[in-house]
Amino acid sequence: MYKPNDITYPLISWYKSNKRNLPWRNAFNHENAPYRILVSEFMLQQTTVATVLNYYDRFLERWPRNEDLSNATEDEVLEIWSGLGYYSRGINLLKTSKIIFNDYANKIPKNIDVLKTFPGIGEYMSSAIASIAYNLPSKAVDTNIQRVITRYYQLDFKNAVRNRKTVQDIVLLLTANDSPRDLIQGLMDLGSSLCIPRLPHCEKCPLKKGCHSYKNSKFEFTLKKIKKIIPQRYGRVYLIERSDGSYLLEKRAENGLLAKTYQFPTTDWCETKPLPDSPKSHQEMQVVGKVNHKFSHFTLELTVIKVDNKSEDLQNIVMPENGIWKKPNQLDQLGLSSLMRKASKYIEV
Ligand code: ADE
Repeated sequence: MYKPNDITYPLISWYKSNKRNLPWRNAFNHENAPYRILVSEFMLQQTTVATVLNYYDRFLERWPRNEDLSNATEDEVLEIWSGLGYYSRGINLLKTSKIIFNDYANKIPKNIDVLKTFPGIGEYMSSAIASIAYNLPSKAVDTNIQRVITRYYQLDFKNAVRNRKTVQDIVLLLTANDSPRDLIQGLMDLGSSLCIPRLPHCEKCPLKKGCHSYKNSKFEFTLKKIKKIIPQRYGRVYLIERSDGSYLLEKRAENGLLAKTYQFPTTDWCETKPLPDSPKSHQEMQVVGKVNHKFSHFTLELTVIKVDNKSEDLQNIVMPENGIWKKPNQLDQLGLSSLMRKASKYIEV
């Protein structure tokens, strides 16, 4: 049933003339190509190509080689990662870089099983790195690749786990022959440009000749996502200004959501809407606005409260253990999450 050549030849030739011009694809002009691919794959996890493009070059300018990154601190990485989201990826990338420097003679390993042991590298990423950085066969299957292969062979897609396993086996066969690097990236590009979830552009597809879905005019399916009900949470965030014009920030906990990023002090984020404060307690605290932010598993509405530097409450503030005071023009140097960047917009500079 699976005839790899029906896919590999037309796909690779299509890819060669249609590939997206992405900065990590120029990696092969650099002697440290595997490092550049490693960085790109960490950034691309759960994040669109368009977003990553705003961060990738800056990251590589700052740390062009693995040895440079391995000397960085978490705060420095979070500063560059600020706004990209899923901050544990940046921290894991740094940990991985240090392990590679210290234990693997600064060479990104080629072995998928070894790659998988590094912080933040799982099944997909280890395979993608092996294929893209080292041109090795692998089972690198992201959602684009899963859709292309599922459609091509008109596979049963109702059982998503079984479907993924079948697609992985097919991709391993496909990459065992021709250039795995071009094949994997060709499948990614086909899935993001022509074989898109809704109305695929089959007429332009290099694989239409052998595509079972095309032959049977069955393009309607997409891999179904289970619709999640996303809970809403609420809280307050305090912009506390000291008389020298600096603001209080604290570092979040070591683990969990937005771990180790800096934030303005906030209340807990709860599913019940906070009651309005009594007018008295608002005398020196002013509600200046709201911030809304989507996380993967909940959405958050924070009421932004400015605390006046004359406020009596300020005298009573217990300085958080990880607290620091920063002037507005110093905030960019901190690893602020997008959420806190939104809150910082309420500081009038
Ligand atoms: N998503 C994950 N890895 C990717 C890559 N190398 N190119 C484009 N999109 C990706």
